[in-house]
Amino acid sequence: MNQTDPDSIDELSAALQQCGYYADRRLATAVFLALRLQRPLLLEGEPGVGKTELAKALAEVLARQLLRLQCYDGLELREALYEWNYSAQLLHMRAAEGHAQAEQIEREVYQERYLIHRPLLQALQAPAPGAVLLIDEVDRADEPFEAFLLEYLGEYQVSIPELGTVRAEVAPVTILTSNRTRELNDAVKRRCLYHWLDYPERERELAIVRAQVPQAPAELTRQVAEFVSRVRGAPYAGSFQRMPGIAESVEWARALVALDTLNLDPEVVTDTAGILFKQREDVAALTRDLAAELLAPAPTE
Ligand SMILES: Nc1ncnc2c1ncn2[C@@H]1O[C@H](COP(=O)(O)OP(=O)(O)O)[C@@H](O)[C@H]1O
Ligand SMILES: [Mg+2]
Repeated sequence: MNQTDPDSIDELSAALQQCGYYADRRLATAVFLALRLQRPLLLEGEPGVGKTELAKALAEVLARQLLRLQCYDGLELREALYEWNYSAQLLHMRAAEGHAQAEQIEREVYQERYLIHRPLLQALQAPAPGAVLLIDEVDRADEPFEAFLLEYLGEYQVSIPELGTVRAEVAPVTILTSNRTRELNDAVKRRCLYHWLDYPERERELAIVRAQVPQAPAELTRQVAEFVSRVRGAPYAGSFQRMPGIAESVEWARALVALDTLNLDPEVVTDTAGILFKQREDVAALTRDLAAELLAPAPTE
């Protein structure tokens, strides 16, 4: 906990919102607790629900440096943690040859200054107030990488064979995200606070689109939020393979403004379907009839 860290959930929500991020109460609570308890926070959810964006906004709120590690299959420690600057080591060895004992040279080339710091190590060594470390899309990494993360997640430390244990002076605020393409290791989950990030409810999405596309007419923005929320809800959700995320809603609103649209109609909806959906089957599924149905006033409202 830092002196400047928000000291209530409301304060945190308000600060995030000032940075353009709209969090609901449950998410704000999870983030607040992660800060207070100094625990990593694992955010799981569909693509486009605001997982990555949260880490960015949080770094801004806390005025901490954001360090980002994008995970992928085959991610190696030398990209995540550290690697030795091999060419600098070689130069050093060349220069020292003939002047020093082999053992001494070996000691010298394994000094910190020949170490290239990657995001995890940078996070551990960041001076006060510390860093925000985003370990993004951890479900894309392989299991050995997850296993490697355990020491960091549990104790904010890592072991480097040549140097020993590096421990954080200030616990980095650590956010892991997962699109849940596979189940994460239980041991990783146990070391984190967990939050499932869902699509926003209509009012929140409306606020986000309003904030990001202020040039859109208020009525159009309302229709966009309503339409997207219906697409994601029963009984329509089953018609599509991939639901539009918040980024798609925002982009759709921008596109509609560019087309001078004042009101949604089935034609403009199907003409712009490629902005909401990124799968051929989903674009095809959004027929004019379905669009008309989605645009019809709800009987219960
Ligand atoms: N709660 C939110 N408040 C404001 N904008 C948001 C929010 N959630 C998502 N967005 C917008 O949606 C975009 C996609 O979110 P992102 O964080 O990349 O999704 P994810 O990482 O979950 O796939 C962001 O760039 C941002 O513009
Ligand atoms: Mg993301």
